[in-house]
Amino acid sequence: MDERIKIFEEVNPIFTTAQSCLRTFAGLGDRDSILLAGQLGFNNEGKADADNLTPEMKEFLEHKAAPGFKAMIEARFLCSNQIIKDFGYKQVLDLPCGYTPRGIKLSQSDVKYYGCDLPVVIRAMMPAFESIAGRSANIEYHEVDATNYSSVKEAVKNAGGGEVLVTTEGLLMYLTQSELEEVFSNIRRILAEYGGRWITTDNEIVTTQNRVMMAIAGENISGSLASPPTPDNDFFRPLRAEQFVKEMGFDLEFTPASEHMPGGLSSLKGMPNEQADAVLGAIGEMRFWVMTVRKEEARKEDRIETNGFKAEIIRDKDALNIRLSGRLDTITSPDLLTAYRKASEEGRITAITVDMEELDYVSSAGVRVLLIMHKELKGNGSIKLTNMNAAVREILDTMGFSELFEC
Ligand SMILES: C[S@@+](CC[C@H](N)C(=O)[O-])C[C@H]1O[C@@H](n2cnc3c(N)ncnc32)[C@H](O)[C@@H]1O
Repeated sequence: MDERIKIFEEVNPIFTTAQSCLRTFAGLGDRDSILLAGQLGFNNEGKADADNLTPEMKEFLEHKAAPGFKAMIEARFLCSNQIIKDFGYKQVLDLPCGYTPRGIKLSQSDVKYYGCDLPVVIRAMMPAFESIAGRSANIEYHEVDATNYSSVKEAVKNAGGGEVLVTTEGLLMYLTQSELEEVFSNIRRILAEYGGRWITTDNEIVTTQNRVMMAIAGENISGSLASPPTPDNDFFRPLRAEQFVKEMGFDLEFTPASEHMPGGLSSLKGMPNEQADAVLGAIGEMRFWVMTVRKEEARKEDRIETNGFKAEIIRDKDALNIRLSGRLDTITSPDLLTAYRKASEEGRITAITVDMEELDYVSSAGVRVLLIMHKELKGNGSIKLTNMNAAVREILDTMGFSELFEC
C-alpha cells in the first residue's frame, strides 16, 4: 500500500469507505464506473473478508445485507442526480465526492460540477477522471477539508453562474459534534453567498438499512454488521436533529427518494419480484433532507402588551434583548415564556439581556421564566439583568436569585 495512503488511513480511516459507490456501479456493469475503477486500481466487487466475522455473519453479509446495501447505494446516487435535474440546478458542490462517477455522469450534461474531498482522494480522482473524460471546463476537482471554510470557499470561488446544489453523501455520520457544527456553518456561508440548497440522506441511512433488511431477510441488521456505526452528534439524535438544523440557520424540508427514483434499480435484478418490490418500497421512503439558508433579518422584533405588562423582544443575530415594563406575574409571565420560546426556535441564542428599568414587580412565576432562559443557555452564554429598580432587586434577593444572574 502507498505509504501516503497508510498515513492518511491512520489519520482519517473513513476515506477507504468511499469506494463502495464506485464498486457497486462497476459491479452492476456501468461502463463509466468500470473504466474509473480500473484507472483507480479498484477491483469491481468488494467481498466480506473481515477476520472477525463468523461464517454465518459472512453468509448473511454476502447474500442478504450486500444486495440490500447495493440497492441503497445505487438509489441514493441515482436519486441525487435526478434531484439535480428535478430542482433545475446548473451547479453542484459534491462534498465529499469520494470516488463516485458523478463527475463523469455530469460531464455529459450542462451542469458545472465541483467534486471536493480530502487530498488523498482528489489526487487519485482527478487524473483518473481526466484519463477517461478528458479535461472539461465544467468539471473541477478540489482538495478540501469540509471543516475548513477557506478550503471549501476556494473550491467554489468560480461559482458565479447562479445557485448551487450542495450534496453530502456519507460524511456527517463520521463527524464529532464540533466538526458537524463547522461543516453546517461552512455550507451555510457558501449557500448564503451563492444561494441554493443542500441535500443529504445521511441520517436516514440506518433507518433505511433496517427497513431494507426487513424486506430482504425479515430481520434488522445489528451489532458488528451495522454500518455505519451509531454516530455521536446532534444530526443523528432523532429528537434533536431537526431543531439542530434550524439552530444552525437552515430551513428544512423533506423529499422522499420515491419521488426522484429514475425507473428500476439494476441491483434488484435477479431478486424475486415480491422481494424486489418490498426493497424498492423501503428505499423509496428514504427522505432527502433539503436545507436552505434562512433569510435572517439581522434584527427581529416581537412585542407583548397585556394586563399592564409590556415586553419588547429584539433579536440581534444570536443575542436577545428584552425590555420589560409593568408587572411580570403569574398572569403575564406565560406570555413572556411563549415569546422567548418562539425566539429560540428561530435560531440559537447565546446571550440574553433583560432591561428592567420599567419593571415594577416580579413574582416567583416571572423569576421562573428568567431561570428557564438562564438554564437553556446551558453555559453557552449569559443572561444579564440591567437597570433593576430597588423593589425588584429586593424580591430577587429575598428569593436568593440575585447572585445567579449577572445584575
Ligand atoms: C463514505 S465516503 C462517501 C463518498 C461519496 N460521497 C460516496 O457516496 O461514495 C466518505 C468520504 O468523506 C471524505 N471525507 C472525510 N472527512 C472529510 C473532510 N473533513 N472533508 C472532506 N471530505 C472528507 C472521505 O475522504 C471519503 O471520500
